[in-house]
Amino acid sequence: SASGQPAATGAPASAETTASAPEVVVLFGSQTGNAEGVAELARDRAKARGFEVRFADMADFGKKDLKEPINLMVVVSTHGEGEPPDPAIGFHELLGGRKAPKLEGSRFTVLGLGDSSYDQFCQMGKDFDARFAELGAERILDRVDCDVDYEEAAEAWVEDALSKFAELAGGTTTAAPQAEAAADSGRSKWSKRNPFHAEVLDTVLLNDHGSSKETRHVELSLEDSGLVYEPGDAVGILPQNDPEHVDELIATLGLDAASDVGEGRQLRDALLSDFEITTLTRPFVEKWAELSDNAELRRLLGEDARQEFREWSYGRHIIDVIEQFPAEQLDAATFTGTLRKLPPRLYSIASSYNADPDEVHLTIGVVRYESLGRARNGVTTGYLADHVEPGDRIPIYIDHNKNFKLPHDDNTPIIMVGPGTGVAPFRAFMQEREERGARGSNWLFFGDQHFRTDFLYQSEWLDWREKGLLHRLEVAFSRDQGEKIYVQDRMREHGEEIYAWLEAGAHFYVCGDGERMAADVHQALLDIVQQYGDLDEEAAAQHVRELQQSRRYQRDVY
Ligand code: 2AM
Repeated sequence: SASGQPAATGAPASAETTASAPEVVVLFGSQTGNAEGVAELARDRAKARGFEVRFADMADFGKKDLKEPINLMVVVSTHGEGEPPDPAIGFHELLGGRKAPKLEGSRFTVLGLGDSSYDQFCQMGKDFDARFAELGAERILDRVDCDVDYEEAAEAWVEDALSKFAELAGGTTTAAPQAEAAADSGRSKWSKRNPFHAEVLDTVLLNDHGSSKETRHVELSLEDSGLVYEPGDAVGILPQNDPEHVDELIATLGLDAASDVGEGRQLRDALLSDFEITTLTRPFVEKWAELSDNAELRRLLGEDARQEFREWSYGRHIIDVIEQFPAEQLDAATFTGTLRKLPPRLYSIASSYNADPDEVHLTIGVVRYESLGRARNGVTTGYLADHVEPGDRIPIYIDHNKNFKLPHDDNTPIIMVGPGTGVAPFRAFMQEREERGARGSNWLFFGDQHFRTDFLYQSEWLDWREKGLLHRLEVAFSRDQGEKIYVQDRMREHGEEIYAWLEAGAHFYVCGDGERMAADVHQALLDIVQQYGDLDEEAAAQHVRELQQSRRYQRDVY
């Protein structure tokens, strides 16, 4: 909603700008809150410059909002295989469809958030950018695609866009001095840039002997941190790379571990904590193709070779490329210049703050595999499993997620689908509901490979069931019988009741694997709604979309 309030401080006093006071609409599509955070920054900076601002979520934005020409600043993230954030699905479809509104007279600029290790990097930013132009709006600034380390580029885009809009409106607003008032300031002084060093209280292997999984329950102390979280939020961990991998990389490059890479930093320290040294991204390969002056790498980067590049990069890490395509006379700083910053990793919180404000619990699936003859491990999961012990302190922050939240009403029933580590937030949900004395019914679908070794938090679920807090519990142990049984199979078995719960107002949550599980569960839900709601395919899809837009169907998938 637009605020007619003049900016409190620092707004330029020029009569010229107040007279024309242009309006900007800051429009965002956000899954976990990063795009929304950038949109908040844009809103605050725009107000400080004297703009009228309308702040809008794509979930609540439609044709009626596009009738009159407007000035749009659009921030949108991309998920999975180039998909929109759940709350933005409807708006994305509207713009892509035949009924899309004409946008002549409107002006826009787009900022995309994404991860360059994915093939469809910033696809949503690209889609919206192209579509707004096709529909007749004027692009006032080139699109900016941000990688995981997005903060600086996003801030620069905000400033450039606002300057441009001011200039077009005939005003001359300049960046107002910033009182660094970020959205998080009311919460705690700890952030991604200034993490809290939390003591590790315990790490427990949840799988029993004989399992092929390695799932760890990690308990961290938040004592004296002032950190607060809600069920559905995540912890961001700033990991360190595996020292063995760092040393192997330095040796392969033939560099000296103590070489200076700028700002008084030595190569080995920088590779341990500052840069991502495993995941292969297109931007890295582009830079390495130049440094190694290699024709084969250049060919793989060609537009015609996209599919081949995808297959080639699968299971391949930076060190494999360096080994296969050596670069001559490389200095340490040039090498670190090819790398992106080591991004923090997010883990869904498995505990409730209200149940125990001094602790936060995580459920971590340790990633270990072999590819191209090398043993690999996930950066953060390997760090936690192999290099961190109780008593150590690790840098963390809380990543608030508005799009994965318990219903406000404690009487609302919930259905939770969380196979594997996807069960983590549902442990938090149950702890919270128990603590609050919530009366709504709770139904959990859990799945993993084997009942005997992989039933994560088994005794806790059974306790909650005994106490009458967990009303229904369905389990799918995929490898305990000849044919695979998954959570979505259990959903289909209970389709009629799931539909009845939804009709009674239940919220539906899915957490876990985003590559296949989330899509299969989504399909099962569509089929259930179609069958028991007696709808055709299109109407069922519409119904499920409405559940998403109204936040009754929420996902936390990775
Ligand atoms: P699988 O590994 O035996 O195939 C947690 O990892 C559980 O999710 C395991 O039981 C795993 O089964 C299962 N799983 C794998 N693919 C899945 C999918 N597409 N949908 C739902 N569950 C899946």
